[in-house]
Amino acid sequence: MNLTRSATAQNTVANLLESRSTTGLYDPEKTLAPETIRELVRLASFSPSAFNMQNWYFVAVHTPESKEKLSALAYGQPQIKAAAVTYIVCGQMEGYRELAKTLQLSVDKQIISPAIQQSWVDTVTSMHENDRQLQRDEAIRSASLSAMSLIIAAEGMGLASGAVGGFDADGIVAEFGLSAQDIPVLLVTVGYASEGNWPQKVRKPVEAILDIC
Ligand SMILES: Cc1cc2nc3c(=O)[nH]c(=O)nc-3n(C[C@H](O)[C@H](O)[C@H](O)COP(=O)(O)O)c2cc1C
Repeated sequence: MNLTRSATAQNTVANLLESRSTTGLYDPEKTLAPETIRELVRLASFSPSAFNMQNWYFVAVHTPESKEKLSALAYGQPQIKAAAVTYIVCGQMEGYRELAKTLQLSVDKQIISPAIQQSWVDTVTSMHENDRQLQRDEAIRSASLSAMSLIIAAEGMGLASGAVGGFDADGIVAEFGLSAQDIPVLLVTVGYASEGNWPQKVRKPVEAILDIC
């Protein structure tokens, strides 16, 4: 148990995790303010990433024209058009190239030393520069963690959310002008639920998914 956080905060997170469910049916009339769209990404950016690479990128799709394009690339799944916003959550393959700059912010605040910054840059470069598989794995790890943070942030604001993995990734890269290093990992829909959604589906018992050794 983390004793640095209050019991209330812990209960809030537990309640969000226990009560969250995937929304497929949204009220298409309800929109989100640009500040809210931005705030959700700000909160998602507190997710952890290897070496604090922050190798993620988000495209917030909310205009009717953009939704139309994305919906077609998600095989017509209706939640893309009905949700207030759908985030294309991307992982970046080449985050390691910018690590010195990314870490400079923490050096400036004296959270890490320049020596640590340099050693992390050297380590990540030697690990990543000739290993496309590791670049991709790391991109998917970081983007997935940030997507879940975004979902929990949305739920914490009383919004409905959903993860969508059924999409044409190459098509999204082309249509939304993403760079070759951006991998669309997950779409996250956010908005206001309408009637008729499934409740959260039943989970396997913990005994079936946990080995304590
Ligand atoms: C990686 C991933 C891909 C998913 N893809 C889709 C999808 O393409 N369409 C969809 O309606 N739901 C999709 N889902 C939602 C799952 O179906 C949903 O999380 C699961 O059935 C459990 O339901 P619950 O989240 O309401 O408990 C996806 C979820 C994840 C994590």
